[in-house]
Amino acid sequence: MLILAPSLLAADFKKLGEDVRTVAEAGAQYIHIDVMDGAFVPSISFGMPVIASIRECTDKVFDVHMMVEEPGRYISDIKKAGADLICVHAEACCHLDRTLQQIRESGLKTGVALNPATPLNVLDYVLNDVDMVLLMSVNPGFGGQKYIPYVTDKIRSLRAMVNARGLHTDIQVDGGVTPANVRELIEAGANVFVAGSAVYRGDAAANTKAFLDIFKEYEN
Ligand code: DX5
Ligand code: ZN
Repeated sequence: MLILAPSLLAADFKKLGEDVRTVAEAGAQYIHIDVMDGAFVPSISFGMPVIASIRECTDKVFDVHMMVEEPGRYISDIKKAGADLICVHAEACCHLDRTLQQIRESGLKTGVALNPATPLNVLDYVLNDVDMVLLMSVNPGFGGQKYIPYVTDKIRSLRAMVNARGLHTDIQVDGGVTPANVRELIEAGANVFVAGSAVYRGDAAANTKAFLDIFKEYEN
């Protein structure tokens, strides 16, 4: 199934709850929540109290993208705040295997995120136990950047790796995703699409529907 994950980073924070409901009601399946610590990435976004406060707005999947050094320190707090899936950066975990184990043991879905320049082979030993791989298609830290074209080949290689192992790992793409390039990403093998500015710039309900209509072209 093709999944849209609107990124709240591009929402209007003074009416965050309403912006969550708008995309949920328009049919987005995930809510993508970018937590930034000002260390792994330059920006600071928001943390547990904000996640907890919007949890009551929807029962859609809360897909928490931790752009945080050593996110293992926060797994139980993020779970308590209402996460369904926690995605950690391979580059930010000294002991990636242990951090993934912590997420799994807490009963949540696991994700590993890779920066654009990070090679896929960091996944060699953990891929079989990961629910989702997030391929960053911009350098993390900011919304509204342009898609980095070489990531399309990376998606293709990861899909081949997942298929060769007989896995059903979700492949998420994050950064610069728009209705104009999403078909290319689907055809390369991705199935979960983060979109911040392409959803929240303008009419968020209509933009959500535009993505979902494209997804329908691929249903059979
Ligand atoms: C960037 C974040 C993204 C961001 C995407 O570091 O991980 O989720 O919000 O924004 P757009 O879709 O505007 O590139
Ligand atoms: Zn993100």
